[in-house]
Amino acid sequence: MAVVAILPGRPATERRLAAILAADVVGHRRLMEADEAGTLATLKARRKGCRSRSSPSIGAHRMTSSHYAHGTDAAEQQRLTTMNRLLNDRCLAAARLSTGDRVVDFGAGLGQFSRAMARATGVKVVGIERSEEQIRGAMSQASLEQEAHLLEMRQGEVEAPPIEGAEWGAFDVAHARFLLEHLRDPLITVQNMVRAVRPGGRIILADDDCEALRLWPEPPALAPVWRAYQRAYDRHGNDPSIGRRLVQLLHQAGAAPKSNTFVFFGSCSGEPDFENYVLNIGSEIAQSTDDIVETGVSREMVERAIAELGTWRKAPDSAIWYGIFWAEGVKQG
Ligand SMILES: C[S@@+](CC[C@H](N)C(=O)[O-])C[C@H]1O[C@@H](n2cnc3c(N)ncnc32)[C@H](O)[C@@H]1O
Repeated sequence: MAVVAILPGRPATERRLAAILAADVVGHRRLMEADEAGTLATLKARRKGCRSRSSPSIGAHRMTSSHYAHGTDAAEQQRLTTMNRLLNDRCLAAARLSTGDRVVDFGAGLGQFSRAMARATGVKVVGIERSEEQIRGAMSQASLEQEAHLLEMRQGEVEAPPIEGAEWGAFDVAHARFLLEHLRDPLITVQNMVRAVRPGGRIILADDDCEALRLWPEPPALAPVWRAYQRAYDRHGNDPSIGRRLVQLLHQAGAAPKSNTFVFFGSCSGEPDFENYVLNIGSEIAQSTDDIVETGVSREMVERAIAELGTWRKAPDSAIWYGIFWAEGVKQG
């Protein structure tokens, strides 16, 4: 729970989250140890404002821009790092990569899953990422883990990706996780992914559908705040429910849909990593506080929801039920 270490000076809501989650000092130490490499890397990353907004970029056929709600500051990089640790083995199993596969990862973030894919294929993965902070963090983490050779991060917009002439149509797999939900027009990007792979190549999409989240017993203050969190996406033209659209997007982009599934991303009281799952939800809310407040929910309400999560995580019967929506298509022709 390295968030605690990097929060001084951050807004009150995040400090509150830190205070709540810092209460379990033993758990904190254990988790710091578990995430030491990621923590070191993210602490080194330059602190920046919470939100990043792209300048308009030219897609294949139209102007587009998108709002990345989570931002790229150190706290978010820590959340992303922990989430990767919790989720990557299950996503890797779903991807069923083969040795020798050339993979391009759209919206690669800190590149942890890109590297996991490179380990599986034995081939360096090309990661496309807009944010300089993320790219710096990605290469710093890769170097710390002696894996810089597994990752080639390229800066650019996924709507107009930095893929060079002969590379188009040469990749075996194009992958995107937790990206499309942040784009105003995700179809442009899925079309680019289809264009990037060879005939017979695979396009893998994994994303959120926030309505699918179920916490039981329900912390009462959470439901209205979680709804407002989703409305905050809407207000920026992003889609918090994009998960259900993944197969349709593959079809609309010209790929033949092949399969879909859920990658389980839940946990319950008694599991060693349960706190980290709770932290992931709390951090997402805390970092989107300003956006949530703009939808009409008060800051106090947001803080109450976070405080409830802090209590809820200690109950003996708490459970998070959630799945990442996952779909795969094949390029025809
Ligand atoms: C939630 S992170 C997911 C990172 C990674 N795929 C993972 O699963 O760990 C989404 C990433 O997409 C990047 N991103 C958002 N919009 C983008 C765009 N239009 N072009 C390139 N990258 C973008 C963000 O900067 C962020 O690093």
